[in-house]
Amino acid sequence: MKAFITTVLFVALFVFTSSCGGKKEDQDFGKKAAKESVQSETVASPMETKGKEIFEGKGTCATCHKPDVKLVGPSLKEIAKIYNEKKASIATFLKGNEKPLVDPSQFEVMKANFALTKNFTDEERQALEAYVLSQGK
Ligand code: HEC
Repeated sequence: MKAFITTVLFVALFVFTSSCGGKKEDQDFGKKAAKESVQSETVASPMETKGKEIFEGKGTCATCHKPDVKLVGPSLKEIAKIYNEKKASIATFLKGNEKPLVDPSQFEVMKANFALTKNFTDEERQALEAYVLSQGK
């Protein structure tokens, strides 16, 4: 009888500890997966970060362009969508040698900015492109 009780206790203890351990692993796994998916959405590449800085800083683009809504200029979402569809290059457009694809009727307003963007380096124009396209995802 004593041996039987010991066995029952032993089995109960074993089931208790192992199920408990299993649960903890599940929870940790869930947390880890959630954390990773949040990171992949929010972390920008170095080019996107640089582009954002120029966009909001010396480029002064943010005065006319917002990510989701049309202001003076089209939203970045709309620009990104059209440039992705047409496989065109924003960096090249900012050099001032390309025709407008998004809103040709308002091109004169955008054109004034080429005075600035023409003097940016290729890398700066590519950073702006990376940032604008990142807002279309
Ligand atoms: C004074 C307001 C204003 C500022 C500042 C401005 N934009 Fe624009 N932008 C516009 C308007 C208006 C349009 C729509 C005309 C057009 O499509 O060209 C436009 C269009 C665009 C387009 C789409 C061009 C196309 O193919 O039609 C891009 C890309 C763009 N802007 C990028 C920028 C960047 C990058 C900056 C900063 C260096 C900037 N804009 C600064 C007003 C502005």
